[in-house]
Amino acid sequence: MTLTTPDVSVRPATTGFPARVARTRSYAMTPPTHFTVTYAINPWMNPSVGVDSDRAMAQWECLRRTYEALGHTVHTVDAQPGLPDMVYAANGGLVVDGTAIAARFTFPERAAEAGHYARWFRTAGIRQVHQTTGVQEGEGDFLVVGDRILAGTGFRTHPDTHAEIAALTGLPVITLDLVDPRFYHLDTALGVLDERTIAYYPPAFSAASRRLLAELHPDAIIATDADAQVLGLNLVSDGRHVVMTDAAPHLESQIRRAGFEPITLDLSELLKGGGGIKCCTLELRPAADARQSASEEPMTGPNIIGTPRHLESSPEPHVAHNYSPLPVVAATAEGAWITDVDGYRYLDCLGAYSAVNFGHRNPEIVAAATEQLHRLTLTSRAFGSDQLEPFCAALAALCEKDLVLPMNTGAEAVESALKVARKWGYDVKGVPAGAAEIIVAGGNFHGRTISIISFSDDDSARDGFGPYTPGFVRVPFGDVDAMAAAITDHTVAVLVEPIQGEAGIIVPPEGYLPAVRRLCTDHDVLMIADEIQSGLGRTGKTFACQHWDVVPDVYTLGKALGGGVLPVSAVVADADVLGVLHPGEHGSTFGGNPLAAAVGHTVVRMLADGTWQARAADLGEHLHARLREFVGHGVLAVRGKGLWAGLDIDPQLGTGKEICLRLAQWSVLAKDTHSSTIRFAPPLVITHDEIDWMIERFALALRG
Ligand SMILES: Cc1ncc(COP(=O)(O)O)c(C=O)c1O
Repeated sequence: MTLTTPDVSVRPATTGFPARVARTRSYAMTPPTHFTVTYAINPWMNPSVGVDSDRAMAQWECLRRTYEALGHTVHTVDAQPGLPDMVYAANGGLVVDGTAIAARFTFPERAAEAGHYARWFRTAGIRQVHQTTGVQEGEGDFLVVGDRILAGTGFRTHPDTHAEIAALTGLPVITLDLVDPRFYHLDTALGVLDERTIAYYPPAFSAASRRLLAELHPDAIIATDADAQVLGLNLVSDGRHVVMTDAAPHLESQIRRAGFEPITLDLSELLKGGGGIKCCTLELRPAADARQSASEEPMTGPNIIGTPRHLESSPEPHVAHNYSPLPVVAATAEGAWITDVDGYRYLDCLGAYSAVNFGHRNPEIVAAATEQLHRLTLTSRAFGSDQLEPFCAALAALCEKDLVLPMNTGAEAVESALKVARKWGYDVKGVPAGAAEIIVAGGNFHGRTISIISFSDDDSARDGFGPYTPGFVRVPFGDVDAMAAAITDHTVAVLVEPIQGEAGIIVPPEGYLPAVRRLCTDHDVLMIADEIQSGLGRTGKTFACQHWDVVPDVYTLGKALGGGVLPVSAVVADADVLGVLHPGEHGSTFGGNPLAAAVGHTVVRMLADGTWQARAADLGEHLHARLREFVGHGVLAVRGKGLWAGLDIDPQLGTGKEICLRLAQWSVLAKDTHSSTIRFAPPLVITHDEIDWMIERFALALRG
């Protein structure tokens, strides 16, 4: 008898049967921490026979590891002292279509388990948790076979409760009468192998139920007395692999002959309480709409939370290691939700660093992109396109400026703005050639190119990439006096993020930006506002500068300008600034391409009436109010504006990355920055309820 995880390598299915297809499952299991036999509520239990707790735990662990080795997710329910039978998680309830029905136990010895399971369902994120008025013992007596439920009665579950379960699940419930007290739950006498196939032990059922079963399942595998007496039918199948006791060789070979792959285990210590493999396993069936229709592997949705396999590792051996992503591998996305390759859904609270302001695959943006894909995608700027001028005209109007220089990435827009500022300094301001200086802020993040990292004070962005581009002076963010002191006759521009994003959503002191504006005006210096992350609706205004009634000379825009579809960036300024560029002095093959222009134009059009901005402002108030509840309870500070929030986590609770990993386990995606800060920048399509849902998960993630 072995306790090691069995070899679960896939062998070809026996011919003569339909291919047996495994579906990845999600299970709840309760460890046998408090398992003993101190009372007898079924014929298997004998309080005078001791239980070897270590052995029980080892056997249970082996079962859990087996499921995980098969690629299933196991969620652990906390065992409670005084409730030895809680290890039989299948009796704790029934979870169908993302909805849980908590058990109501027959015997007072087990009654308290119901509350623990009901609470667990809720904390696991199952939104609908029902309680029945009638007695029923969950999956012990309700076995889902395809689109119906076979239901046992006779010893535990009351027959009237069958109708209640039918009403709650919307599935037909077929009543089966159990007549042998050894087979007191249906799952002790009947095992479900796949959507159509069952195995059962006929003598456990009344004659009428036997007839019914024979009619419904003429191809069923029939278990022998010997199979039944070791609870051989108390098995768990994923549609292909059948995890079952090692003590029922006849049943095992029948199951194998039917094309399934039995994986046998010893769970004999748990048999002392009258339960086997199925009794220890409660299946968590996701909401139907959470299933990834394109995938053959329906998985848990947002209602059922777990640790997806892909949260354990995401090997990308051929991808350069310049990022340390959360181990979530996205496959599809819509609105505010991302679905990973295993079908798990996550509420996206990062929004690709604000590049997905309008939601994943926003229909209006996708329609514009699709239409343009079918017309014209790229000309380079060697020729014109019918998309470029309308896009630039609309964007210039949104910014109340004259001209637009279209580029691709954010860093390119910033680089371009720096070039424009230098050229303006020499051509217009009269700064001596090569002497231009640009003032930047401490803690800045403007991209990753050599010039940009040259003025970064983030060592990991800068170290090892010298020699650096000269001509930049850095002063502390928020310090007007330092900026005033840094301005010289050679200063051509000040470059600031109105709210610093990567630094942790740092909102400057109230008078800062207006004072910067005044300094720039007074000293004939261009004010460049990098609104690549803060702009285009994120903070509740079109531009973050508007919170302080500040109009910069130059905007750099990016991220959301591409509608979450492709990189689109721009420098926007008046003609006396951008007009310094002449043909041949700057360019980009892809900048302003027709596809990008069509998408960017759609984004600008969408922002025209202020609806998105108002939405971000309203929902942002709610988000911030809810997040502030945590200050003093694991969160040290909350900052930001609109749907953009930075939170400093109490380092005692973990690093920002650890909290983000836990959040991902609770189906929320957010990203850390600077060790203990987390930022939330959900797509602006997020709803009030989804924010509340995220807040619940955040509370759980903080708890650890
Ligand atoms: C304010 C700001 N500027 C520039 C950039 C660089 O944009 P990209 O990554 O598209 O080059 C970023 C990116 O996070 C940013 O937040």
